[in-house]
Amino acid sequence: MNQAVQFMHSLAQAISTIGLYSGEHPARVGALEKLYETLAELLEENERPSFTFFGDEVVYIDSPLRELKGWALSVRLSESSIERIEFTPGISIEELGTFIGDLHLYMTDKKELDDGSLDTFSHIRFGSVSLLERSGGGDDRFDLYEQAEMAGGLFIEAKKNGRIPVALSRSVLDSIWGAMHTEEAFVIPIVPTEEGKDLAPVRAMNTAVLAVAFGRFMNLKASEIRMIAEAALLHDIGKVAIPDEILNKPGKLDPADWEYIKKHPIASAKILLRSGEKFEMAAVAAYEHHLELDGSGYPELIYPRKPHRVSQVVRLCDVYDAMRTKRPYEPEQPLGKIMEVMRSGAGRKFSPDLVDHFTSMLRDWDAKFVRGDTGGAGEDTGPATESIRLI
Ligand SMILES: [Fe+2]
Repeated sequence: MNQAVQFMHSLAQAISTIGLYSGEHPARVGALEKLYETLAELLEENERPSFTFFGDEVVYIDSPLRELKGWALSVRLSESSIERIEFTPGISIEELGTFIGDLHLYMTDKKELDDGSLDTFSHIRFGSVSLLERSGGGDDRFDLYEQAEMAGGLFIEAKKNGRIPVALSRSVLDSIWGAMHTEEAFVIPIVPTEEGKDLAPVRAMNTAVLAVAFGRFMNLKASEIRMIAEAALLHDIGKVAIPDEILNKPGKLDPADWEYIKKHPIASAKILLRSGEKFEMAAVAAYEHHLELDGSGYPELIYPRKPHRVSQVVRLCDVYDAMRTKRPYEPEQPLGKIMEVMRSGAGRKFSPDLVDHFTSMLRDWDAKFVRGDTGGAGEDTGPATESIRLI
């Protein structure tokens, strides 16, 4: 991984020397040689090293490079529509040199990036993620389905030890991040649910996927999106304290059942606080994710207050995912009905501006959703209902 970071620093150096020196200036040649050496090392480790630039975040293959968070070159590259660069073995130093020259031209608007740019190099592919996907590449967009098993591990740990490992949570988040940013541009892969399988981990993954998409739609910083995604992933971890018979009860819930259910936000927050300081924001969102905008809902607050903005975002993502998922006690709801529930709750249950953004995202980015089932894709068949069970 350090070599990937080193390569990015060498890349920045090589690009800047092009702007400063001309022709065969030693500084230029030296920077290119250093870059080529580092690339050779990367190619020894991996047949197809790739870098994806998402705002101020750099993803190497499918792992974000934390050392480069907030890195200016990443922002500049992604703003120049260079969202990904991939290398293959056999590249020569001349090809790399020409590529760096071109990169400099694209970044200074002296050359336009178009579909034809892809054919210029034999061992380098670069451009917008969607362009690269259109021109080839595999279809492993449902990798996340396997990652839902890892999310299941979070629930197992929470049940067994009353806490969750930071590394496991990060790994699941990295998988989500990778699946959304190394596949088609801004793809929103919704993991399908399976009859008889535990719903909680899949719902956790999907809520986190939605949080990433929503954060992107609102143009939040990558670090903010990751924070919200983590809160979304972990908000219902306290469900491990609710007996399965109650969680999946098909009929009406009785008051005793509700007593259990109403405790799960507190259970989630306790597990997260026990798991480390890094989960403080996630703990707040977990505690508040069933609160209305005026502070009503559950858990009951002695002094009702408006939930934190992150809690409100998690709630909206959770509500959408709950309604679009076929659950043992409720069918999936059509998209039109979900939008109506959100709009009718704006101002009372949900922040109106968040509802506006969220419903706009559902409308504008509908084509980016990759759904493994029919959830949320049905026709609008009737008025919004208040009786939808949200746990
Ligand atoms: Fe919940």
